[in-house]
Amino acid sequence: MDSFVIRGTCRLEGAVRVSGAKNAVLPVMAASILTGGTCILENVPDLRDAKTMMQLLEVLGGSVSLDEGRAAIDTSRIDTFEAPYDLVRTMRASVYVLGPLVARYGKARVSMPGGCAWGPRPVDLHLKGLMALGAKVRIDHGYIDATADRLRGAEIILSIPSVGATINLIMAASLAEGTTVIENAAREPEVIEVAEALKRGGASIEGEGSSTVTVIGVNELNPFTHRAIPDRIEAGTIAAATVATGGDVTVEGCRPDHMHAVLDVLEQAGAEIETGEGTIRVKGAEEIRSVNIETGFYPSFPTDMQAQMMALLCKAAGASTISEHVYPDRFTHVPELKRLGASITLDGNVAVVTGRDRLEGAPVMATDIRASSALIIGGLMAEGETKVLRVYHIDRGYERIEEKLQRLGADIVRIRE
Ligand code: EPZ
Repeated sequence: MDSFVIRGTCRLEGAVRVSGAKNAVLPVMAASILTGGTCILENVPDLRDAKTMMQLLEVLGGSVSLDEGRAAIDTSRIDTFEAPYDLVRTMRASVYVLGPLVARYGKARVSMPGGCAWGPRPVDLHLKGLMALGAKVRIDHGYIDATADRLRGAEIILSIPSVGATINLIMAASLAEGTTVIENAAREPEVIEVAEALKRGGASIEGEGSSTVTVIGVNELNPFTHRAIPDRIEAGTIAAATVATGGDVTVEGCRPDHMHAVLDVLEQAGAEIETGEGTIRVKGAEEIRSVNIETGFYPSFPTDMQAQMMALLCKAAGASTISEHVYPDRFTHVPELKRLGASITLDGNVAVVTGRDRLEGAPVMATDIRASSALIIGGLMAEGETKVLRVYHIDRGYERIEEKLQRLGADIVRIRE
């Protein structure tokens, strides 16, 4: 139950390197189940969620070692096919073991991932897709119970370009008999990551990153070695914090080409953005301009940056609207930002943020990964002391963020409870 104490205001300056992408590392770790050997994954960030996925793979009978961001994942002795409630309830991404277990072992029992702070997060598209591939799926005492002799290729049209469903079905289809075509697939860089890792293991996949992904099933996959992409959401969070504090920061080891929508919005807010090979230099302006934002599926503006942008716009000149189209109820950060003196009104999935000249420090409560990073940005913009409680949410998705911000001149300390 650690907390952060932030003394604002500040101006972030300097350079910082981003970590590997949580949302790429988690599914690639699960994909190792398909190989039945030892996979190597590099650029693994030191995050709670990465540790949870490693724990889950060990519960299934795998063995995982992590040394300085290099994970060796041995899935040759998997002998258990149940992902228990106690682990799944702490991390929805545990559902990523479902597709690989059914595809390789013909059976899986995975606890239904519950909702989260901002509402229900169903997995019906994962299940429908697996059934289209020939799996028998039933819900039993809160668990997804899936079995199959061998999955068979099929045409799957997703009603929503779900990242999780696209990834789970690509993994399942890679060992199916025949060809699978996934229409309206998610196009996120993390989807491409999983496909690339599997292709290193001999999978036959085409179209990853587009709305139509074709997978020609193979009989077996070899262990792969893969280096995870940098975390575009961490890079975006640091860029937003820089603009929020009128700072000048170079984000290193990132992929600007994964962040067009975020960088566009920061420029609209008045920032100067200079991109280079693996770098983004962000310079905040004297005055933050108000902006209207619509979240959507990649390459549109990511919902995982919505809260951080809202914090930034709390001190903009004028009113901004933020329309949340991916998770219409994703506003648990609003009452907490209002504790810092922000002026925000909600009407359904639209928030109107009226900029204020100043914010005041206060105790606030983290509720999920991205909401909590928004509260840190709020604390850096607020006068006086802000105490962010329950930062374990942040540790799930950001690797020692307080140390990175300290290096940029922020007055932020972790209070170990
Ligand atoms: C991934 O979640 C990310 N998580 C989320 O990031 C991110 O917010 C989300 O994609 C959207 O970009 C990971 O990668 C581990 P979806 P996922 O399936 O896969 C609906 C973070 O902070 N849907 O693309 O769970 C769903 O309710 C996290 O790092 C169904 O209706 O998201 C949502 O409205 C938070 N049925 C939409 O689709 C399904 O079976 C997109 O969800 C699946 C999804």
